[in-house]
Amino acid sequence: MDKIVVNGPSRLSGNVSISGAKNSALPLICASLLSPGLNIIHNVPRLGDVRTILKLLAIMGAEVDLKWPTVEINTADIDNLHAPYELVKTMRAAILVLGPLVARYGRARVSLPGGCAIGARPVNLHLTALEAMGADIKIVNGYVEVKSSRLKGAVIKFPQVTVGGTENIMMAATLAEGTTVIENAAREPEIEDLAIFLNKMGARVHGAGTGVITIEGVNSLKEATHSVIPDRIETGTFMVAAAITGGDVLLENVEPLHVTDIINKMESCGVGIETSGTTIRVRGPEIIHPVDVITQPYPAFPTDMQAQFMVLGLKASGTSVITESIFENRYMHVPELMRMGADIVINGRTAMIHGGKPVSGATVMATDLRASASLLLAGLIAEGETEVLRVYHLDRGYERIVEKLNSLGANIRRVSSKFY
Ligand code: UD1
Repeated sequence: MDKIVVNGPSRLSGNVSISGAKNSALPLICASLLSPGLNIIHNVPRLGDVRTILKLLAIMGAEVDLKWPTVEINTADIDNLHAPYELVKTMRAAILVLGPLVARYGRARVSLPGGCAIGARPVNLHLTALEAMGADIKIVNGYVEVKSSRLKGAVIKFPQVTVGGTENIMMAATLAEGTTVIENAAREPEIEDLAIFLNKMGARVHGAGTGVITIEGVNSLKEATHSVIPDRIETGTFMVAAAITGGDVLLENVEPLHVTDIINKMESCGVGIETSGTTIRVRGPEIIHPVDVITQPYPAFPTDMQAQFMVLGLKASGTSVITESIFENRYMHVPELMRMGADIVINGRTAMIHGGKPVSGATVMATDLRASASLLLAGLIAEGETEVLRVYHLDRGYERIVEKLNSLGANIRRVSSKFY
């Protein structure tokens, strides 16, 4: 298994191009199951998770033609409505094939994703909503088995905001009989992106991006072409990298509106930020003021930026406070950061980061995608060598991160070895 070695500290400067959003590409690829034609998706990031979902579709009978960053998917001949555990366990988003399969074929057998490093993350809300639309659901041998005649439109009020649940039901409802209303819907930009793609296919989705989404069911959908929005979490990660290294970085191909809360929080820390069109320039200040964030559903501060902001807190002069309100176990990076000398105290869902203290390189273990990113960031500000193990997590969600950071002046390399 590979590892990444960072020699710090370094100052980042220059331009970096942000890739398409992982969390948009995955549902868009699943949505291609809804129409029996050739769907073309541009600006797809070259990531482990994208390969996994494409592999899943290929197993189901889709013809997948990869010409990065474009993916062509022909779903005319889907003949296997089974999503095996081996693929779903590596990536929860595979549950997003459920809605499209049930909507188009009236049945599906999809492995339950199980737990993951950042918490239990059940899919009960997806299933209850499909049941409300008339689906018959059984859990057999770890699989969700769904059968249904044509789904029926329903009013679905999610008791808590769920991104994947909103996406699954939005997709399922496109081919349902009648109108579906999703209340307390997730408002993430990725939901809007999916709705735009579905509407290009002939769906009638209204209100995506607000808390109430209305979907008028249609009889069939047609092929469509779409381009994935920029990755707002990769954007935020590079913004933090520039800030903590006292750098001056121009991020290109971004959507500043999707990172409004991240920009506001960083500005309140004293970080210099200028937005213009599809670029954001970030300049690290002499002194970073402490941060105070609570993770919440969009448009508030994203849980997927929590680990990276903790490293911002390490550089801040004073005590920062971070509260994780989405996932119950998303501080796995903290013990690793503490091995680098970080002074962090966890109390329930709140972390107090006593910043401004020196951190030094160490061998650290990545536990999930965003935790891994925080360890790389810490390596950029640490004295000496940081080795980040289990880098397959990073490969799941950051396109060419080593190359991108190196092009900005970091001293970072990937070491391949069968011994790690
Ligand atoms: C998506 C993102 C992930 C992000 C998360 C929260 C993708 C591919 N992944 O994950 O990067 O961290 O949103 O912004 O887009 N929950 C239930 N029952 C359910 C569904 C969810 O209890 O049926 C809970 C989860 O355990 C969690 C919370 O609801 O505590 C939010 O989860 P959800 O928004 O569904 O996250 P994902 O869609 O899995």
